[in-house]
Amino acid sequence: KNILFAASEAVPFIKTGGLADVVGSLPKCFDKRYFDIRVILPKYACMRQEWKDKMEYVTHFYMDLGYKNCYVGILRMEYDGIQFYFIDNEYYFSGPKPYDTVPWDLEKFAFFSKAVLSVLPVIGFRPDVIHCHDWQTGLVPVYLHDSFQQNEFFWGIKTVMTIHNLKFQGVYDVKTIKEITGLSDYYFVPDKLEAYKDANFLKGGIVFADAVTTVSRTYAEEIKTPFYGEGLDGLLRARSESLRGIVNGIDYNDFNPDTDIFLSSKYNATTFRKEKIKNKIQLQKDLGLDQDPKTMMIGIVSRLTDQKGFDLIAYIMDELCQDAVQIVALGTGEERYENMFRHFDWKYHGKVSAQIYYDEGMSHRIYGAADAFLMPSLFEPCGLSQLMSLRYGTLPIVRETGGLKDTVEPYNEFEGTGTGFSFCNYNAHEMLSTIRYAERIYYDKKREWNKMIDRAMAQDFSWGNSARQYEEMYNWLIG
Ligand code: ADP
Ligand code: GLC
Repeated sequence: KNILFAASEAVPFIKTGGLADVVGSLPKCFDKRYFDIRVILPKYACMRQEWKDKMEYVTHFYMDLGYKNCYVGILRMEYDGIQFYFIDNEYYFSGPKPYDTVPWDLEKFAFFSKAVLSVLPVIGFRPDVIHCHDWQTGLVPVYLHDSFQQNEFFWGIKTVMTIHNLKFQGVYDVKTIKEITGLSDYYFVPDKLEAYKDANFLKGGIVFADAVTTVSRTYAEEIKTPFYGEGLDGLLRARSESLRGIVNGIDYNDFNPDTDIFLSSKYNATTFRKEKIKNKIQLQKDLGLDQDPKTMMIGIVSRLTDQKGFDLIAYIMDELCQDAVQIVALGTGEERYENMFRHFDWKYHGKVSAQIYYDEGMSHRIYGAADAFLMPSLFEPCGLSQLMSLRYGTLPIVRETGGLKDTVEPYNEFEGTGTGFSFCNYNAHEMLSTIRYAERIYYDKKREWNKMIDRAMAQDFSWGNSARQYEEMYNWLIG
């Protein structure tokens, strides 16, 4: 069976968030005897030269998009046993980052979505299922329903729309989108692409895909409610028969404290008691924190946005810094949060370290060094950082929402169970008292803490189970 992943990012080629981790790591985990999985991405000028050099030119042609006639170049590369295709067009993909501004991004990804379908007969790959990821590929099922039905090649191709983040939908006024996409009036009505008088790419994908998924069970339920539904909860309730949550995994080879090249001291489930602390000492040294191996270190690695609960952190930071803790934050994003961390780094020097940049190696070093990992999200479709933390024996402190709720089992001191700490309401002091509860276990019940690390490191959030669920879904769709 042939499956095509269409997405706007994938590791190792281009990454702005967890979507890239998923699209880059999941394809490797399907059963190769039954599934030929290929991946198609834009070829961004901002990709590293090393990757661009390895891409091999296949061919090019021209495609209509609205009033424009566009160059579509096709490149390919085999990487880690997976065939990747890249759509080349310098007009659309030459920016300094994968995403710029609206409505330019909408035109860019309308182009990409239509090109994904156009290249298939040319490369001679007929997928049984096209698996679309997020709003950037929302128009794939729409175009498939539209112009491509005249061509027998496309008959019977099924589509899956996976929602990694409902917050981003690809929205702009109908008139502009009609011009950009070349789609007819037929599509711009409230039961198709139109939502609240605007045109909405993700909505198009949800309406026209044969199946809709999201990245955790709890988020699949949450998005059917107005609080989490981002205006599409009604549609998602209407589609609930074909909506399911399949939890993300991570690549257990890339994220492995026993082989991690970024760690000064490698460790595993039996050696962490002696070795993990060495990473903390090293990081304290390198970041100019007070050098005390006993102090509890709390890590944060994140996009700095409202989604991740940083207003809660801002609210209690002064109070938290009265405790015997160190806080190491790595992230970029909204300026007010970048400045907030810089401010506390200045105010509590030696206790707080703000690393305001993007760096994979540093993220691994924090997962490897910290004792706890803080992720108090307002909403979280799945979240990968807490999975990485569990893998590194760094106990997550999370808010019970979306994938955080599904993957972190709260500590129960009476039963001796749990892999982390959690709180329910989006409330800064509820979070603070949960952090303080964790501090008490860390300082007063070290044996309990270490047993919790044992349990955390014994969890299996590799892709195995989830890949089987996707396979089942593909089989069911293909019939
Ligand atoms: P989201 O996709 O919403 O940003 P996830 O938890 O799913 O959240 O994935 C975030 C990914 O990005 C993780 O792999 C995390 O380690 C990584 N990440 C986030 N910020 C940084 C940063 N500043 N430097 C390095 N990696 C980062
Ligand atoms: C999104 C979500 C995150 C999820 C990731 C991968 O960026 O915010 O929760 O883990 O996609 O699915």
